[in-house]
Amino acid sequence: MEKLGLLYQGKAKKLYATEDPEVLWVEYLNQATAGNGAKKEQIVGKAELNNRITTLIFDELKRVGIDSHLVKQISPTDQLVRKMTMFPLEIVQRNVAAGSFSKRLGVDEGTALKEPVLEYYFKSDPLNDPFINDDDAVALGLATREELAQIATLARTINVKLTALFASIDVRLVDFKIEMGKTSDGEILLADEITPDTCRLWDLRSGADAEGDGAVKDGQIERLDKDIFRKDLGSILPAYHEILGRLENLAASH
Ligand SMILES: Nc1ncnc2c1ncn2[C@@H]1O[C@H](COP(=O)(O)OP(=O)(O)OP(=O)(O)O)[C@@H](O)[C@H]1O
Ligand SMILES: [Mg+2]
Repeated sequence: MEKLGLLYQGKAKKLYATEDPEVLWVEYLNQATAGNGAKKEQIVGKAELNNRITTLIFDELKRVGIDSHLVKQISPTDQLVRKMTMFPLEIVQRNVAAGSFSKRLGVDEGTALKEPVLEYYFKSDPLNDPFINDDDAVALGLATREELAQIATLARTINVKLTALFASIDVRLVDFKIEMGKTSDGEILLADEITPDTCRLWDLRSGADAEGDGAVKDGQIERLDKDIFRKDLGSILPAYHEILGRLENLAASH
């Protein structure tokens, strides 16, 4: 497969055309951003870590019946994916209060939620990815009511499978952002990436969750995600390597 023209340069990835109109070449970048790009840093090794972590997670999801746009990883920093017509939606699910949810609703970080929460954000850098509800999405023509129903069902199923996957490697899936698109024959599929950039991952080996209720008291949170970068808690590399190592062990155990 040949890498042809650059189609899109995002904050974390570059997308190129290939000779197959149904396949895109994705190059992961070493760039880390926070605050919608307000904070930016080149972190050597990040691209390889996220490319491999996404590949392993999509492979694990496929094992449990969740298909995705992934075709295959083709180099340490590159993978081939099915070209999708993307919904301009950041699809977020929360199992534990954290981040903008805690800020917006005044709920302590680490508070277990009675039920997982599904949220949508409109993917718009100029508007800073605003929070929207179903009616907003339909009114703006971002998705139809039927598509949103499918997106919600698939997203909730992914949360169940992904929560179990991370629990099997002693990690609490606090929340995560996914994106979905439509294939040329109209099928809605999981796309983009699933990495410590797009998830909040707390280590259950560090004694957190000792009470077993999912709630984590301050000082007991061992973060294995991009909050380390957002909150200036040091290098993300050891945490990302830890997640990769545990996923590699899991893959090797099958
Ligand atoms: N299979 C796919 N087909 C077409 N576009 C895709 C596919 N998977 C992901 N994309 C799009 O490719 C882009 C990936 O780039 P990247 O994640 O770096 O940037 P971004 O999403 O624009 O910005 P950020 O994620 O940093 O907010 C996104 O716009 C994403 O929606
Ligand atoms: Mg992105």
